[in-house]
Amino acid sequence: MSVIILGIESSCDDTAAAIVQDGKVRSNCIAGQEVHRLYGGVVPEAASRAHLSHIVPVVQQAMEQAGVALHQVDAIAFTRGPGLMGSLLVGVSFAKSLALSLQRPLIEVNHLLAHVASNFADPPMPNFPMLCLTVSGGHTQIVQVDDYLDMRPLGQTLDDAAGEAFDKTGKLLGIEYPSGPLIDRLAQQGQARFAFPEPQVPGLDFSFSGLKTSILHFLQKHTAANPDFVKQNLPDICASVQHRIVTILMRKLEMAAAQTGIREVAIAGGVSANSELRRQFQQAGQRLGWKVYIPRLEYCTDNAAMIALAGYFKYLRGDFVAHDVTPMARWSMV
Ligand code: KG4
Ligand code: ZN
Repeated sequence: MSVIILGIESSCDDTAAAIVQDGKVRSNCIAGQEVHRLYGGVVPEAASRAHLSHIVPVVQQAMEQAGVALHQVDAIAFTRGPGLMGSLLVGVSFAKSLALSLQRPLIEVNHLLAHVASNFADPPMPNFPMLCLTVSGGHTQIVQVDDYLDMRPLGQTLDDAAGEAFDKTGKLLGIEYPSGPLIDRLAQQGQARFAFPEPQVPGLDFSFSGLKTSILHFLQKHTAANPDFVKQNLPDICASVQHRIVTILMRKLEMAAAQTGIREVAIAGGVSANSELRRQFQQAGQRLGWKVYIPRLEYCTDNAAMIALAGYFKYLRGDFVAHDVTPMARWSMV
């Protein structure tokens, strides 16, 4: 018997809908929100308003692209959290209303668990147990994954996320939000010749706020001596910051693999698009005998295919929620 899941994602600034049939992605649609570029970050009220206008067209588009009619949908999976409350409310309310009108079960999905599930969109599938480094604008964590829905964080950021470190660096350098992609491109033309200190954080946790402060002091010192310092050295500054962020991530991932003995290792989240992270990740894999996995880019950034995939695994377990469910701005995956 075929199972069709509609997934809905609205935790931050992207409104997304996807259809997954029997664990395979049939459509994956997304409406981004340009408005936040003007402000250099996500403006929560603008985000929820934009979700309201995007959600119906995006769901319709996902249905059309998959060639699926509403009455064929077996269950509706939605992001319950973590995320921005005003953004989550739009997706949760929409999912509940649709489930009620179609008389179908509702499936709540944790956004961070779903980022890990993006590794199961395409073959080759990782074997369990595996490790996943989830790195996005809002989150940075290393997760041990024992089964599709059985996972626990081994370490996480104590302050900023890795994507935030890219975006805040971009703000200091006058690079438009989100800055990660352009820093990545500029870094490819530069040399990592400026040394930024590595934070000393015990265990498998991360910290990026000290890096931001040291970049600020570095820029203040050099621009006081030469007002054109940033303009003259932008690719080298980007390469240096990127190198430090990536070495912080990789050091902890290697520690996690050594401590657990796990050699199936994946990365997920928007920052896994970063070319230096991909390069160092592949190299670590060769050096340490890991099997490495990186989801396709459209499944790395926020998307609804990962929500529908996680929803599919929950559907198989009969893991549904009642219609009085409410969003959770903070929600640990365990
Ligand atoms: O997963 P995502 O789309 O949304 C969140 O859940 O946050 O991740 C967006 C983040 C932003 O911080 C963006 O700057 C960063 O991912 N990012 C990158 C790259 N592409 C996106 N960071 C570094 N290098 C990239 N190529
Ligand atoms: Zn995300």
